[in-house]
Amino acid sequence: MDPYSIVLFVHLLALLIAAMASSLAFYAALQLRRATTPPEAALWGHLIGSVVPVFPVATLTLLGSGAYLTQEQWSWHTPWIDAGMVGLALIAVCGSGIEASRGRALDRELQTVGMSTRARSLLHDPYAWSAKVTTLTLMLGVMFVMSTKPGGLGSAVTIVVAVVVGPLAAVPFWSSSNRSRSQPSELAAAGSGPGDVGSGDQP
Ligand code: HEM
Repeated sequence: MDPYSIVLFVHLLALLIAAMASSLAFYAALQLRRATTPPEAALWGHLIGSVVPVFPVATLTLLGSGAYLTQEQWSWHTPWIDAGMVGLALIAVCGSGIEASRGRALDRELQTVGMSTRARSLLHDPYAWSAKVTTLTLMLGVMFVMSTKPGGLGSAVTIVVAVVVGPLAAVPFWSSSNRSRSQPSELAAAGSGPGDVGSGDQP
């Protein structure tokens, strides 16, 4: 067993952990989107908050192990490796940039006002949902280029397709089907905020 294989295993392990954490966070975000009371939102917000610390660790492990593999057997000018790094950087922008800032705004609103109209619209925020779904399409895209190792054109097209398809696939999540289920005034009085919604740092 050579060190390369061990590091490749670590690389794939980081990917598995990132995929599991993303699935949990996505499920919690779907439930949070349907929440009608602050305590309900708190429950799902807390789950998201407890999963979020996994992402920077998985991102750094993917980057570190990927750098070792590249240095050992490939070159930094390999198109699919460059595409992998661009994909990972975009995932970090989606997670710790867009999603985290929207999550913090939602957290603040729920803590201070409750399930207000603004909180409701933040639960369906197009930017946050586009970032969430684009993270998934980018992960798929990077997995595709890492496994098939295409040339420059194929690698670039894959990342562009992931960036275009992500926001398009997120459109159904922008709409609210349950806005009428509760009255803002009654919900505002119902209790605490979601706690950790705003601490997002997804890759
Ligand atoms: C979201 C981020 C990433 C994902 C989903 C990912 C996924 C994968 C997968 C599935 C493989 C296995 C491919 C195979 O064995 O044929 C792999 C291998 C590899 N990855 Fe990544 N990777 C990511 C980030 C990176 C980064 C940032 C780098 C470079 C700095 C990198 C460099 C490599 C290298 C050199 C291999 C070894 C390929 C081989 O020996 O066949 N990866 N990656």
